[in-house]
Amino acid sequence: TSYQQPFRPFFHYTPQANWINDPNGLVYFDSEYHLFYQHNPQGTKWGHMSWGHAISRDLVHWQELPVAIPEAGPVMIFSGSCVVDKANSSGFGSDGRPPMVAIFTGHQPSNQSQYLAYSNDKGRTWTRYGTQPVLDLNKKDFRDPKVFWHEPSQHWVMVTVLSPERKALFYTSTNLKNWTRSGEFSTDVPTKTSGKAAPAIGGIWECPDLVELPVEGSMERKWVLLLSVGSGAAAGGSGMEYYVGQFDGRTFVRDPATTVARPIDWGKDYYAAVTFNNMPMRGNRGAISIGWMNNWQYATDTPTRSFRGAMSMPRELRLTKQATGYELRQRPVQELKSLLGPAFQWAGFDQGALNQSLTDNGFSSDTYQLTLDLEATKAEAGVRLCRNTDQETVVGYDPIRQLLYVDRTRSGQVAFAKDFPGRFAAPVKPQNGRISLQIWVDRSSVEVFANDGQVTLTNQIFPVPNSRGIQFFGDGLRSASIRPVEPIWK
Ligand code: FRU
Repeated sequence: TSYQQPFRPFFHYTPQANWINDPNGLVYFDSEYHLFYQHNPQGTKWGHMSWGHAISRDLVHWQELPVAIPEAGPVMIFSGSCVVDKANSSGFGSDGRPPMVAIFTGHQPSNQSQYLAYSNDKGRTWTRYGTQPVLDLNKKDFRDPKVFWHEPSQHWVMVTVLSPERKALFYTSTNLKNWTRSGEFSTDVPTKTSGKAAPAIGGIWECPDLVELPVEGSMERKWVLLLSVGSGAAAGGSGMEYYVGQFDGRTFVRDPATTVARPIDWGKDYYAAVTFNNMPMRGNRGAISIGWMNNWQYATDTPTRSFRGAMSMPRELRLTKQATGYELRQRPVQELKSLLGPAFQWAGFDQGALNQSLTDNGFSSDTYQLTLDLEATKAEAGVRLCRNTDQETVVGYDPIRQLLYVDRTRSGQVAFAKDFPGRFAAPVKPQNGRISLQIWVDRSSVEVFANDGQVTLTNQIFPVPNSRGIQFFGDGLRSASIRPVEPIWK
């Protein structure tokens, strides 16, 4: 397989061939990170859903393994999670070693219910636990179980969704096989007539995750419910939102202050992100998540050829406490620093000199990390990326409206879907008069992290090859540094 092909990301995970969507079963076990995912082993469009599989020792370099759990007759293998059953509560273990257990949705046209499979060889081969589900409500849309061990209550917890009802259901179990309903969570659906700020996006719910996160600068930890919503997200189409609250081992209750769901990412292409189970304890490290960089509005039409779909960089999730409540912080995992090359750096320059110096230094890459500091008191400022004669992707800050935006209207191939081109903006307030941006460019994607992970904007782009131009604009720029990113593929 060649990774040298148009639009193939060099430091984001993609399958060697064919379609992927949601990350599934993210789990750490025996020095390996496992990334399973929704995969069509037979084509570049959605179908024959199975669990594809890749492993990594560093969250950066991935090795693709054979399909872990294939479609079985009429039952497709939809999204779900993976646990390490340390006490062998399921009885699936052998030779005194803990089994890995996958909990996933078996999809049939008129029924979705939850099934198990297990592995006793570090995820290399999988055995289905019979042909029957362990949890079946006779529902058509009941899916995406996220299971984790809740230490204080000494039981397993499952969060799933009734998608069209926009309801999260909670279950508990002591053996992963028998599940008891312990609670549910839903929010008011926004109505046009209510006249109030919309409390949540109106689309169907998918891929829930419930995770406890550290609050920065304190010993506090809070629970966060992550949701993927099928339509109506911040940038249009599918996207993610979150609620902060409490979890007693049985049900999630959002904080009274959290009446408005907050977007997780303000770009078009961030969906179905979930967090790793069984992470090694390391100080106050946050949870690690991976999302699918795509949008159901056009996911099956993106102009890649032998593969379709890519994962986001792994992100570390934490919370900060603000006057308005707890806020999510997302930062690329620090392991990614191992890919960064030497920096070209500037400070106290004028715009023209900087643009010239980039050219003079011969900086030319389509995989890089660009960090910049903008002074927010002046007129609009930012950077035009991935430029070519008539193409560019613009990342800019509008200090009047206090909006950070990514404009991909002229980013390259945009006409394959009417909802692809556009300008997507997020409200961002300056800190000490400045906006700091960290922008990761990987050939067909641009991920922007603003003000140290306070706001993220994730977007795909499909420029013609060698669209490598970089040009700063406005006079707000105060410092910049750019570093090439090494490919993760050999
Ligand atoms: C989310 C989703 C899930 C489902 C899977 C099917 O993108 O629709 O709800 O399990 O994709 O591939």
